[in-house]
Amino acid sequence: MLMTDRLPVFPLETKVNKDGHLEIGGCDATELARKFGTPLYIYDEHTLRAKCREFKEEFGKRYPDIGVIYASKAYSNAAILQIVNEEGLGLDVVSGGELGIARMAKFPMKRVYFHGNNKSLPELEMALKYKVGRIVVDNFYELEMLGKLAQEKDVKPSILLRITPGVDPHTHTYTSTGTIDSKFGFPLPLKEEAVARALKIKSLDLVGLHFHIGSRITETAPYLESVKFILKFAAEMRKQYGFELKELNTGGGYDVRYTLDEKPPAFGEFAEKITTTIKNECKKWHMDIPHLVVEPGREIVAQSGVALYQIGVVKEIPGVRTYVAVDGGMGDNIRPALYNARLEAVIANRMKAKMAGKVTICGKFCESGDILIKDIELPEMKAGDILALNGAGAYAIPESMNYNAFFRPPVILVKDGKSRLIRRRETLEDITRCDVME
Ligand SMILES: Cc1ncc(COP(=O)(O)O)c(C=O)c1O
Repeated sequence: MLMTDRLPVFPLETKVNKDGHLEIGGCDATELARKFGTPLYIYDEHTLRAKCREFKEEFGKRYPDIGVIYASKAYSNAAILQIVNEEGLGLDVVSGGELGIARMAKFPMKRVYFHGNNKSLPELEMALKYKVGRIVVDNFYELEMLGKLAQEKDVKPSILLRITPGVDPHTHTYTSTGTIDSKFGFPLPLKEEAVARALKIKSLDLVGLHFHIGSRITETAPYLESVKFILKFAAEMRKQYGFELKELNTGGGYDVRYTLDEKPPAFGEFAEKITTTIKNECKKWHMDIPHLVVEPGREIVAQSGVALYQIGVVKEIPGVRTYVAVDGGMGDNIRPALYNARLEAVIANRMKAKMAGKVTICGKFCESGDILIKDIELPEMKAGDILALNGAGAYAIPESMNYNAFFRPPVILVKDGKSRLIRRRETLEDITRCDVME
């Protein structure tokens, strides 16, 4: 195997330049590491925009009334949100903080969906003040609180109810959200009561239903099962309460190809099956086709992101394993430690080097679980080499931390051979700002 064989899981059009270096968005990754330091997170703008467009196109050509909203928890950064906005997507935010970033990025509030399983009163006040497009209500406590608040403020927000469909998406338990035993959404046995109570609250406008069954879903079947479930339920609610399903939100969760041996379905396949099932089920239940909203996060940003690290210690334990330590790790990318997520890696400054055997890439944090990649074939490495890991665009920086007083890395955007800083590296001053001394 050659390192170049791994490029299909890196940003689109990633290549090797005449110096034998990795090139992303027309920029030499080795040069970027020198200029901005390591660890460094690189986002390729072309890949990010291509993903936004592909989603809109794949769903749009199959369904007459579609909205694609970016789940900003995958990476909520003002510059990224500006691009997502330029591409015409909406936005899923899940906290007052994410809503604040959306506002900072001047994201049109009409296209913002406010999620969350335990929204606070101040967060709901903020959502009403900013006039977000939809509030996705998760539970009875929130329903009552929002109803009262809207009445006091004499407004009538449009809401969706998040219903747990009771479907197993066959993914990691940490990213499974649609089974009956879930902290998210109205519980399955209480779904009817949720609709009945929401319809009674005159200060709220119930426009539709939402489900999100999990993340990294590799099969289309759980989506189809959920769609069938929710449309049957909507038909029952129409019969009983005159509820009209104007909007159906089927969440996100589309899997991404992180390693060469993973082969998730293309999202065109998800789009084809989901839209066909919605049309068929609506026909079956004599319902008008609702406005369909999909809210991918990972699939929009994962592939565009690359993490660059500098190699330090190479520790060979004879007959056991060789650990190659980098200057980041679980502090900037917890996914491998948290979910056993697998990634690929290449040596950015020596792309033509020959493979030498298996090593384990570890970080510099005080945890034995701080492993970025276990047993990956790579060329011989030495201190100072620059290692590039793929799939760093989603759920890495947003889940990063200051453990061991780590300064979280900078983030840059690359395009057409140019780079621009969109988040600077943290400093000691940043991470001690909240400490209080006598
Ligand atoms: C409600 C909701 N929608 C969308 C997403 C995005 O999921 P993914 O990034 O897997 O597409 C999430 C992820 O947790 C979510 O909770």
